[in-house]
Amino acid sequence: MSDKSPRGSRASSENATPVTDPAFRYAESRNIYAKKLLELKGKVYADHDTETHRGKWRGTFSGPNREALHLEIGCNAGHVVSQWAARDPKTAYIGLDWKYKPIFRGAEKGLKHGLENLIFFRAHAERVRFMFAENELDRVSIFFPDPWPKKKHFKNRWVTADRLRDLHSVLRTGGILHIKTDHPGYFDWINDALQETRALWEVMSHTRDLHGGNPDAKKLQIPDVTLFERLFINDGLPIHQVILKALK
Ligand SMILES: C[S@@+](CC[C@H](N)C(=O)[O-])C[C@H]1O[C@@H](n2cnc3c(N)ncnc32)[C@H](O)[C@@H]1O
Repeated sequence: MSDKSPRGSRASSENATPVTDPAFRYAESRNIYAKKLLELKGKVYADHDTETHRGKWRGTFSGPNREALHLEIGCNAGHVVSQWAARDPKTAYIGLDWKYKPIFRGAEKGLKHGLENLIFFRAHAERVRFMFAENELDRVSIFFPDPWPKKKHFKNRWVTADRLRDLHSVLRTGGILHIKTDHPGYFDWINDALQETRALWEVMSHTRDLHGGNPDAKKLQIPDVTLFERLFINDGLPIHQVILKALK
């Protein structure tokens, strides 16, 4: 897990308006992959295009109607979400990350494998409530969000009580929020945010050592573990997990 994410600086340098403000506008990017994403129209939505089908995302997938809609926040190049999509064609999947190149690579692979039930968003995850309508999602996964370990950077941590409220609003009643981290301090932070929003959730699972007691944890493969998770398991770090059900 990197603490070098440009998260704070990127958000503020794009525009004087905070990224969570309704009036926020994405700035044009000179990243060469920003242009390449346009080649994958319909497979990738970027920036404000991620806010054009609010409440209607399920209808944008080709093929049969999907029974559910799952979002992975911080999906990187979509290793996990692609495998989920391949295994579960009845569900529609969205992988979201703010990095251009990994999103391009993930979408390219999805096309190559003919995964009609998978699309990608290149966007700030902070905009989630502008992307999705209330009750639109059945499941949200956030695996190994950047921990921002230094106190002066805590303000950059993605999971906060406000974000949990946003996620609760876009999840249907009974929808699932799944969070994993290797960082004990960030897990404490997440638990504090959960305390603040405890009326919104039923805790389904809560552990500070997900793979403890599994002698074969190092053999676990994607999508049962993520790319980062495999590294942490190899380093002997315990994985912290919480699974929440949205109450309404
Ligand atoms: C530590 S990596 C974890 C990647 C993957 N989930 C895994 O477990 O292997 C965190 C990911 O979140 C993405 N990310 C961080 N902040 C974000 C934000 N505000 N909006 C969208 N993506 C973000 C990063 O680009 C990166 O791909």
